[in-house]
This record gives sequence, C-alpha cells and structure tokens, in this order.
Amino acid sequence: MTRVIMDFHALSLPPASWSKTDGDALLVVLAADADPAQLDKPLATLWRDLCTAGELELKAGKTALVHQPAKVVAARVVFCVAANGSAKAMAKAFSTGLGLLKTGGTKTLSVGVLAAGGPTAAQAEALAVAALDAVYLYRHTKPSAPAAPGLATVRLLCASADQAVLQAALARGAAIGQGVTLARECANRPGNHCTPTYLAEEARRLAKSHGLKVQVLERKDIEKLGMGSFLAVARGSAEPPKFIVAQWQGAPKKQAPIVLVGKGITFDTGGISLKPAAEMDEMKFDMGGAASVLGTLRALAQMKAKVNVVGLIAATENMPGGKAVKPGDVVTSLSGQTIEILNTDAEGRLILCDALTYAERFKPAAVIDIATLTGACVIALGHQRSGLFCPDDALAEELQRAGDNALDPCWRMPVDEEYDEALKSSFADMANVGPRAGGAITAAMFLKRFAGKYPWAHLDIAGTAWKSGAAKGGTGRPVPLLTHFILGRAA
Ligand code: BES
Ligand code: MN
Ligand code: ZN
Repeated sequence: MTRVIMDFHALSLPPASWSKTDGDALLVVLAADADPAQLDKPLATLWRDLCTAGELELKAGKTALVHQPAKVVAARVVFCVAANGSAKAMAKAFSTGLGLLKTGGTKTLSVGVLAAGGPTAAQAEALAVAALDAVYLYRHTKPSAPAAPGLATVRLLCASADQAVLQAALARGAAIGQGVTLARECANRPGNHCTPTYLAEEARRLAKSHGLKVQVLERKDIEKLGMGSFLAVARGSAEPPKFIVAQWQGAPKKQAPIVLVGKGITFDTGGISLKPAAEMDEMKFDMGGAASVLGTLRALAQMKAKVNVVGLIAATENMPGGKAVKPGDVVTSLSGQTIEILNTDAEGRLILCDALTYAERFKPAAVIDIATLTGACVIALGHQRSGLFCPDDALAEELQRAGDNALDPCWRMPVDEEYDEALKSSFADMANVGPRAGGAITAAMFLKRFAGKYPWAHLDIAGTAWKSGAAKGGTGRPVPLLTHFILGRAA
C-alpha cells in the first residue's frame, strides 16, 4: 500500500503580504462576497487586470492561472472563486484549484483564503482532505499510469491568532484524507488482489503502523463460534473467509467502545442467484464498508483519538459453485435465529447479522454497520447521500450532523415495525429478502432483528462508496462521516 506523505502547515501571513509567500504556487480562494481589494498590491493588480481582460470575475466557479506574475514571489498563481464561505463551497473551490495545479510540478503550495471570518477550522480541514484527494492515483495494477502529482507541502496562510486552531484542523483533515486514501486504494484493487486474506493483511499492517490490536478469525474459528449465516455465504468460494477484529484503544479500558461493522464482500457475483453480466466488475467494490472501517480506524489512530473503537469486518466472496448455498436453504445464525435464504444475492445482510451478534460481547456504546447493501438505496437516494437507518432519534441526529460537518452527508430513512412484515418465512424465523418495493428498508429491518441489544445504526453506502463511468473508483466514503461521529463522542 502506498504511503501518503504530505505536510500541512498553518502559516501566519496576512493577505497584505501574500505576494511575498514563496513556494511553487499560490492558490487564492475567494468567497463570491469577498473583497479582492484586500489583496496586496501585486495580487490586487493581477486580479483587476484579469477581470478587465474578461478572464476572471467574482462569480462562483470562475478560475484563472497565471505564470510568473509581476512582483509575486510564487512561480504560479491560481485564483478560484467559491460560491460563499461555507466549508462545502470552499472545498469545491479547493478541489478545482488543486486540479489546475496537478500538472506543472507543484511541490510546495501556499493557500490564501479570502472570506469573511476565514480561514476557518472547517475550511482548513476541507483543504487537507481536498489536497490528499487531489494527489491520489491508482497505480497498483497499472504501472503505466502517470506519476502521482508531487505535492508535498501545503501551507495555509492565516492570521497569527488562528494559527494553532488551524494547524489542528489541518492535522484532522490530513488524518481523514489518509483514511479516505486507504479506503479508496482497498476498494480499487481488483477482486483477485483484494481478497478476504488481503483485507486481513491490511488490518495487520495497520496494527503495526498505527498501534491497533488486530485479531483474525479463520474459517475453523468462525465455524466454532457458530456463524452459520456468514459461513453460508462463504461456502461457494475457494477464497478462505476472514472475520477481522481490529481495535483502537484511545480511552481507558472501562469506557464502552463504538463498534463499526463493515461489509467485506470482496466480490459479489450474486451466488446461485447470479447477477447479470453488465457492470458486474463493479461488485469488486462490495467491500466498501469494510474499507471504510479500516480507513476510519487509521484516521482515529493517527490522531490518537481519546475513544475506544472496535472494527468488525466479515470478509468473503459471494460465488456460485457446487458447495454454494442455494435458494430455499435454511441456515442458523450466530444469534440462534434461522434464516431462509430465498435469494443468495442478498448476501450482505447474511454476513452482517452474525457480526452484529458478535458485537454484543463488547458491550458497545453504539454499533454502526456500513454496507454497500442494496441497489434499492441507489434508486432512492442516488449518489449524493448515504442511506441512514436508525431507530434511535438522538443517534440518528448525531450521525446526520457528523455527515453534514464532514461534507459526507447521509439521509435518514424509515425503519417502522410495519416494514418487518415483508421478511416472513414459512420455513424459518425470517426470509433474507422481501418484495422489491422498499428494498433498502427491508434490508435494514433484517439487520434490526440482530441489533436489539445496543443503540444501532445502519449506513447503506451502495450509492456513495464508488463512482462509475470515466472516473470509476472508490470514494473512501463514509470515512469522513464516521471519523467526525467518533471524534464527537471523544470530545
Ligand atoms: N452488493 C449488492 C448491492 C448493490 C447492487 C450495490 C448494485 C450497488 C449496486 C447486494 O449484495 C445485492 O446484490 N443486493 C440485492 C438485494 C436483492 C436481491 C434483495 C440488490 O440490491 O439487488
Ligand atoms: Mn449481492
Ligand atoms: Zn453485495
């Protein structure tokens, strides 16, 4: 796994001196309601000349790049206009600016923010996240890919009074950004590379590099425990399943942990209920939940967050085969509840339910499961917001706020008891699927049957964990949401 190394500094320098900052490039981000006259003379002149020439205006989305402007020390200057001073609008402008500076060998970048009350901590955090996002490049199985941008130092120009707060915010953003990078890289690796064994190795690497405690349960351990539902999914695959237990202990032992449960299907063919061929390659991303658990643990460990967190990852492929589970088969879950598997493609809930039961042993303060669970969730919410399913209003609000603050939003969906009807079975305590309508909700209702002993929430990230099309690849979501949620618990 490639290590991301980038330094972030909050540097005391008022706008009246920005043209004196050295480095390869200066990125000036202005809110659309800011006053460019606050810039020092060389930059204000440059701004005015660009506007006069019709190449720039104080309007959201506008950009300009200038080489060696007069009386400016930095070799290149980029102006970007954000819609306003919100972290969301600024993050967008940072990404645009960083994109313009991708080529040209920028190693040291200074960033000036011109917005009322800025730069704020939220903007600083967004800048670090955006910088790490901009330099990420998938290479593992594509050695011919161009070298990743060499950006190594990012300096946020600020008033001296804000320096300490902004430095801390940059560090938070750097940790989140590196967690996101880890999750993206895991997700992007093909199914023949990123196997359950690989996820276990990645967890062990994190144990060494970041001081996590990691234990990996093998098939025989999983059998001994009685995870009959998880094992039913693993039956069809030649790859050995792994149940990964990764712990970050940043608070006294007696403090109840947050447990994160990740769906780690390293490839989902559907099993005997085989998926159609079109876009099946994207089912290598079906371990996005697991990847987000690893990425969040990395971020928290890097920050030495004062909180206890347990990551549980059920990892297996979902394959057809002579030993594969069949529609109509009934299995016994770790909880003792029996499940009639009517559709082997609804495998995520089958591995998560046993992990949710296993979570009980940690006497958790809360359990959040994260899963690329249903195509129905993509239909409901598209690719902007993850689905949030949570019977507990306070916990739901906490997660929703964490997502908003982290610019990694989710949207609450219903979990009324009436939806549970759909899971009735004539041959077991429940079926693993209901009718098509409300498919994301019935999947959540299935999980709810296993999550009665602690405050619980489920995040369906089927629409947000990866992008399709030309920019196909993992997004690293919802690492930012989860990290913010847990940091909120630490405070
Ligand atoms: N991993 C898929 C969900 C998925 C599908 C995510 C497409 C993103 C895009 C999951 O295991 C699955 O196959 N779910 C089925 C459930 C159905 C059989 C009830 C689905 O959504 O079709
Ligand atoms: Mn499936
Ligand atoms: Zn799946």
